[in-house]
Amino acid sequence: MANTNLASARKAKNDEFYTQFEDIQKEVTAYIEYNPDVFKGKTILLPCDDPEWSNFTKYFAQNFKRFGLKKLISTSYAADSKNFKTDYHPTLFETADPQYDEDKTTKNGKIFTLTRDKTGDGKIDVDDLEWSYLDGDGDFRSDEIKQLQDEADIIITNPPFSLFREFLAWVVESDKQFVMIGNKNAVTYKEAFPLIKENKLWSGRTEWSGGLWFETKNPDDVDKVINGVNMKNVSSVWFTNIDHGRRHEHIPLMTMEDNLKYSKHKEVKDKESYDRYDNYDAIEVPFTDAIPSDYNGVMGVPISFLDKYSPEQFEIVGASDNGAIDEKYKLPHFKKHNEPYINGKKQYKRIFIKHKKK
Ligand SMILES: C[S@@+](CC[C@H](N)C(=O)[O-])C[C@H]1O[C@@H](n2cnc3c(N)ncnc32)[C@H](O)[C@@H]1O
Repeated sequence: MANTNLASARKAKNDEFYTQFEDIQKEVTAYIEYNPDVFKGKTILLPCDDPEWSNFTKYFAQNFKRFGLKKLISTSYAADSKNFKTDYHPTLFETADPQYDEDKTTKNGKIFTLTRDKTGDGKIDVDDLEWSYLDGDGDFRSDEIKQLQDEADIIITNPPFSLFREFLAWVVESDKQFVMIGNKNAVTYKEAFPLIKENKLWSGRTEWSGGLWFETKNPDDVDKVINGVNMKNVSSVWFTNIDHGRRHEHIPLMTMEDNLKYSKHKEVKDKESYDRYDNYDAIEVPFTDAIPSDYNGVMGVPISFLDKYSPEQFEIVGASDNGAIDEKYKLPHFKKHNEPYINGKKQYKRIFIKHKKK
């Protein structure tokens, strides 16, 4: 592509962020530790990937035997269909293969599958991947990928950021197990929050603070360069419906009285009481570690609470966004506002929770 075209195409929405191997390993290890058989006999689909150099494909190919996988399927999206154009060149792996097609290499997606020790070297790894061009461009919404979704037991990926809502709906509709990356603000989307409230979607194992670092393909939007690789920090987190141990750890808490006396937060310490909202029948708890252990009513907490949420400790009753809370918790005055207010002043987005009855 000519440089001017490339420059204008780069202004398009960038979805080209590649997940680091260590981040995948840290997350997936938690599922294995909780249930060593979690992947045993399963078919894993990695859509929206770039199998020739995706760390998702590498990680699951390397661990194929150890996890007892039945089949690994990984699909890529055609270079010509991507919003954000990079200077695409097929890899030697592809061009050296007799099925290489000059036209299809940019127009079609690819599918990589792993089921057996193809090379006969006694181990199963990336060298045993078999590949072909897809009929279409690999769009996860196509019938071709939908069929692979039907075949899979578990779907794992970092989907395009610009299509997060659509991807979540696509994966939830499939009724499969899944692990995916998304922006932390997505928790209050109307597509995500009802699932979180019903414990059908939850945070993965990796802590939310600090976001995630991805390799980026946009040289004009880089946060740091590590070993010559352009990296970008995004406020991304893992979402899943697969269980892991951290989800069952309770947050250690102090009583309301002790919080007001000893809290490390100046917004809580030495106050007479916790603030109450003007428009919700709930108290404002500005930090997750300041949740009082002995308050039985509804509490408004930051969305980052979901990083530490255990369904055995708390019940989620709603969120301030999208009016995702029952009318019974809204006070008659200020009713038209979803955002929480205290003394007429708008507060941050809040998740509303209650202690689980002992
Ligand atoms: C955030 S990147 C992640 C890539 C890889 N899964 C990883 O984590 O390293 C999302 C990828 O999805 C691709 N993509 C964009 N739109 C897509 C679509 N409609 N269907 C499938 N893939 C798409 C992008 O080109 C990009 O390569």
